[in-house]
Amino acid sequence: MTGIEYDDFLDLEYEPAETDLVCAFRIDPAADMTMDEAASRVASESSNGTWAALHVDEDELTDLGAVACEIDGDAVTVAYPDALFEPGSMPQILSCIAGNIMGMKAVDTIRLEDCHWPESIVSGFPGPQFGPSVAHEKLDAGDRPVLATVPKPKVGLSTDAHVRVGEEAWRGGVDLLKDDENLTDQDFNPFEDRLADSLAARDRVEDDVGERKDYLVNVTGETNEMLERVDLVAEHGGGFVMVDVITCGWSAVQSVRDRAEKHDLAIHAHRAMHAAFDRLPHHGVSMRVLAQISRLCGVDHIHTGTAGLGKLENEDTPGINEWLTAELYGLEPVLPVASGGLHPGVVDQLLEALGTDIIVQAGGGIHGHPDGTHAGAKALRQSVEASMADVSLEAYADDHEELATALEKWGAETPR
Ligand code: 3PG
Repeated sequence: MTGIEYDDFLDLEYEPAETDLVCAFRIDPAADMTMDEAASRVASESSNGTWAALHVDEDELTDLGAVACEIDGDAVTVAYPDALFEPGSMPQILSCIAGNIMGMKAVDTIRLEDCHWPESIVSGFPGPQFGPSVAHEKLDAGDRPVLATVPKPKVGLSTDAHVRVGEEAWRGGVDLLKDDENLTDQDFNPFEDRLADSLAARDRVEDDVGERKDYLVNVTGETNEMLERVDLVAEHGGGFVMVDVITCGWSAVQSVRDRAEKHDLAIHAHRAMHAAFDRLPHHGVSMRVLAQISRLCGVDHIHTGTAGLGKLENEDTPGINEWLTAELYGLEPVLPVASGGLHPGVVDQLLEALGTDIIVQAGGGIHGHPDGTHAGAKALRQSVEASMADVSLEAYADDHEELATALEKWGAETPR
């Protein structure tokens, strides 16, 4: 018989193996705990330990214990053997590394900041189908950022009004019409009507302007319903679906990824509710980790913030984007989406901060243009043209009146 106690999960001499999933936590131990005690409890509870010392026949035990192997101030590194995890199951992985430990009495706060994913775990996931290649495989954006817009008000427009706004935006120069996160299948704007009418409008615009356009239709819903909606998008000739990945849950995202591949559809991930996990700096799961999970599960685009230039909390957008596009055992990269309070007056700074391999999404920053949606879309496209040509927005506005009007209205303000 062997005894398993909390101490067995702490070994500051341990060097993580190549095959370990290595997680970086930030921990504030409870008042009556040392950091060693708290860290060993985290490693124990997130792998195969519990509060009571266990007595197990050695022949019957596979050693799946995690090791708290480094403590530096409040930063704690825990290494998990890959055999602890079911291949290809994101829910199972999260039930370990972000499960019970988030609520243990042994810690006042605990935050999963970062993960180093070994090849053995990465290879169990599909990753994105398209990633940044949508810019030329599905659209005609070339080297510039892909441009998207979400009609505002975010809910409440009738199907006809929604399609009309979309058509004006496409004609003004955006590539993608996008639903908002809380527009799905409501009576005022039913899913299938909106899908059919928007894609018919897309076809008209493409014929007229000679550029490919598409529609990020929000299929978010109960999982089986969502899969039916994915099938409908393919039947109607769409090239993309949008999913609210946090509110749907990762198992549903994995199901959608599988179905989307059958139809060659790209997945646009909206991250509504992420802040419930990542906003408090000392607790929860960081946006960086949520983005990593999204890439493994196979979304093609994900919202990662605006580098502080929009209406959302400032966060490490450049660092997250870098991870999403870095080499990861051959997994396709993800195309990051900058969205939330953007308008033409901040596009130069945005591209400076994040580069041009992104989607720039503006809702209010297009539809709030004093001359309406069509002019707003033109202004956004002009701001991108200016930035790509290294011409200041002000100079470009001299002979681009839509941009001039947008700059007059918003300047370079970062909205709240
Ligand atoms: C989104 O889907 O990210 C938001 O609805 C963006 O809207 P905004 O551009 O008006 O801030």
